[in-house]
Amino acid sequence: MLGNFTYCNPTKLYFGKDALGSLGAALAGYGKNVLLVYGGGSIKKNGIYDKVISILRSSGKNVYEDGGVMPNPTSEKLAEGCERARAAKADFILAVGGGSVCDYAKAVSVSAYCDDDPWEKYFIRMEDVDADTRIIPVGCVLTMVGTGSEMNGGSVITNHAQKLKIGHVFGENVFPKFAILNPEFTYTLPKYQMISGIYDIMSHLLEQYFSGEDDNTSDYVIEGLLHSLIHSAGIAAENPTDYEARSNIMWIATWALNTFVAKGKDTDWEVHMLGQAVGAHTDATHGMTLSAVSLPYYRYILPYGQAKFARYAVNVWGVDKAGKSERQIAEEGLDAMEKWMRDLGLVMNITELGVNEDMLKGIAKSTLVMEGGYKTLTEDEIYNILKASL
Ligand code: NZQ
Ligand code: ZN
Repeated sequence: MLGNFTYCNPTKLYFGKDALGSLGAALAGYGKNVLLVYGGGSIKKNGIYDKVISILRSSGKNVYEDGGVMPNPTSEKLAEGCERARAAKADFILAVGGGSVCDYAKAVSVSAYCDDDPWEKYFIRMEDVDADTRIIPVGCVLTMVGTGSEMNGGSVITNHAQKLKIGHVFGENVFPKFAILNPEFTYTLPKYQMISGIYDIMSHLLEQYFSGEDDNTSDYVIEGLLHSLIHSAGIAAENPTDYEARSNIMWIATWALNTFVAKGKDTDWEVHMLGQAVGAHTDATHGMTLSAVSLPYYRYILPYGQAKFARYAVNVWGVDKAGKSERQIAEEGLDAMEKWMRDLGLVMNITELGVNEDMLKGIAKSTLVMEGGYKTLTEDEIYNILKASL
């Protein structure tokens, strides 16, 4: 049964090969000073930087730059970004990159004029933005698909000293004002990043699916999105410049985490908590931290949510029910998922990401416990799941 909720998503999307052509119009209502935020340089190599700069200049904007945003952006870089935003008197922050760049832009937008330490306030104490804090509006030109950051209020920041990687889901006032989604901009992604993003999408969908025992429309929507993702992932892995497959994957990613399918559902998110803890200790690629821990987690919680795992096996993986127990059906679904993951080339263990047994206690301690799934884990159970993921 759906609970009470309010649904509003204020992000305007421009999708397709011509989407960047709308950038000038999308920026028209904002002030002149634009802080252009980007990552380690991929946009300079593939030409997206030059295209964006030319549109900004011809739109009469003063362009200030904040490059070098690393994958899994850090609290130190956030402090630097706040200084740059203030120095530029930024009226708008334009993020050109993947989830890391978009997340960072949102963090800067709420932190530049925050009197408190933003890491402590937003990520440790999980407080909202104060009503009188000036929020600098953000827009995104997306170049890497997976996180859904282009159409949500999420911002994930890593603090290496504290060995913590924490996401804050901000409200509608922090969502990007617009996002430009051109599937062709993702063609230059290395295959490792492309499939990591595909698994990130898969995990977002599954972590919202594996919760609740009710008859919920969102579960049917998620099954549909999963079908399309599994289908298009196979095509994109064979041919990364297949526009149809890449555009479907881009669109699924946005809908997987723009709050729509979460409405009226409990949602779990424990795989992300495990993955983020692994990430905090290794700085590994986000989607791969999820693929490496998923199956040990799902196999552990399967008995607590067996009926849903059996439904997943039949409706998503086409497992034949005939003559089998519910348990067998559910397990065959996870076996089919494992085969798909291995065929795609995902990282299937945390050892490959740099984790060894001595690190497990620390990672277990850094793992936040969620309560919306089929089993609320203890620290010992988290440790055992991590051990099974080695
Ligand atoms: O830095 P550059 O040079 O741009 O290179 C990036 C980076 O090395 C590269 N890349 C991006 N677009 C490219 C490209 N290379 C060639 N061609 C292109 N078109 O890809 C690498 C990874 O980029 P990154 O932005 O780090 O990846 P992703 O989009 O997966 O973002 C990961 C971050 O998002 C957070 C993660 O925790 C992680 O910190 N997440 C944010 C969420 C949200 N806002 O809701 C939810 C997610 O679950 C996730 O936690
Ligand atoms: Zn994710």
